[in-house]
Order: sequence, then C-alpha cells, then structure tokens
Amino acid sequence: MIVVTANQFANLARKFPPTDKYRYAVPYSHLLRFLPKDRQPKILELGTGEKASFVKMMRRLMGPLVWLGTVDIRADFVAEAKDTADYAKVVDLGDEDQILKLATELSLGGNRPDMVIDDGSHFATQIHLSQSILYPTLNPGGIYVIEDLETNDKPKYHQGSQSRPVDILIKLVERVCKGRPFTDSPQYYFYQNFAAIIKAGGAYTRIDMEPPTSA
Ligand SMILES: C[S@@+](CC[C@H](N)C(=O)[O-])C[C@H]1O[C@@H](n2cnc3c(N)ncnc32)[C@H](O)[C@@H]1O
Repeated sequence: MIVVTANQFANLARKFPPTDKYRYAVPYSHLLRFLPKDRQPKILELGTGEKASFVKMMRRLMGPLVWLGTVDIRADFVAEAKDTADYAKVVDLGDEDQILKLATELSLGGNRPDMVIDDGSHFATQIHLSQSILYPTLNPGGIYVIEDLETNDKPKYHQGSQSRPVDILIKLVERVCKGRPFTDSPQYYFYQNFAAIIKAGGAYTRIDMEPPTSA
C-alpha cells in the first residue's frame, strides 16, 4: 500500500518533468493504495519516456520500498532509468516475441508485477498486445493501467486495428453488468482519460462471505 494524496502526487510529478503524471494524480492516489502492504510492491511501466521521470519520482516517493521496472523502445530513455530502476530494458512493445520474453523474464526472476502502467506508444494494436500478454503475469489483485485513452481513441492511433482500447473497456463494462460471482471478481476503475483493471484474487477484491460467528 502506498499512501499519497492527489496533491502530493501532483506536486511530486511536477518536480520530475517532462512526465505528465500530475494529470493522473487522482487515479494514482486511489490506486496505489491497493498495492500489497505485506511485501515490496512491484510496478512495471511501459514507456519510460524522456529522463525516466516516473521511475525517478516513484523512487523519490518510496525509496527502496518499491520495485520499479520500466521498458521503452528508446535505448537512451532506458539508459536514463538504469541507475534508478530495478529493471530497465529496451523492448519494442509492437513485437509480440519481445513482450513474451519480457513476461517470461519477469516471471522467472520472481518479479511478476503488482501494477502495470501502459504509457507506451498509445497505438491500439500495441495496447491490446501488451494487455493480452502482461495482464496474465500480474500478481493476484494486481492493477493494469491504461493511460491516455483520449490519445489512443484518435483514428491515427488505431493502426488498422478493428478495435480501439476503449472497445475492450466497454466490453468489460458490459461484463460487470452480468451476474459474475461478486466475492472475487476483477474490478474496473474509470477516470478521466484513464482506466484500470484490478485483477481478482488479491486482498482488495476478496470478501469474506462467511456469516459472522456468534460469540
Ligand atoms: C508518453 S511517453 C512515456 C512517458 C513516461 N511514462 C512518463 O510518465 O514520463 C511514451 C513512450 O513510449 C515509447 N514508445 C513508443 N513506441 C514504443 C514501442 N513500440 N515500444 C516501447 N516503447 C515505445 C516512447 O519512446 C516514449 O518514451
């Protein structure tokens, strides 16, 4: 569990330009609370970006209490993260084999993430590909974030894909309306320009349905 207010998160993000994470201070201040508190949470960012801003701001916030992984297609951005991140690698998120390799490496290294943040190319095809491979690697109760829905809703980001990222999310919303068991189901969070899926199986989604025992 990482407890930070939205204002604290926004102020911190502004100290590490050029990240735009301050725009998502409200969602992150909510979602970081769902990370495990009994062990070091692991956060994997897709799209390191210039100056590795997010990795650096999270290290400032959490010190060694968080495991930070980050990948980008740009070797210079990844190099910026090397000293700060626990895992920094050049990965082309448009290449299925490279994402599979990433997933295998994380799993075998005991580094299945508790949070994946897709802030990469924003191309629909890449978002779908990353989600299909990396969501299953999330630990139970892990959080899968897709940022910048507004960007990837634009036709030029569809890259020939039949569906937009938001179409997957709409299907998930439809699923929420169907009678799945509610004791341990994934949970879906929608914020302005931002969505998150909380995988079932963690402390947050599990509810003890046993009737209270009488004293
Ligand atoms: C919006 S920026 C990331 C910003 C960063 N997360 C932050 O908060 O400051 C998007 C990043 O995705 C990377 N990117 C674009 N296409 C990619 C691909 N096919 N594979 C991996 N990374 C890619 C870009 O190089 C860029 O650094």
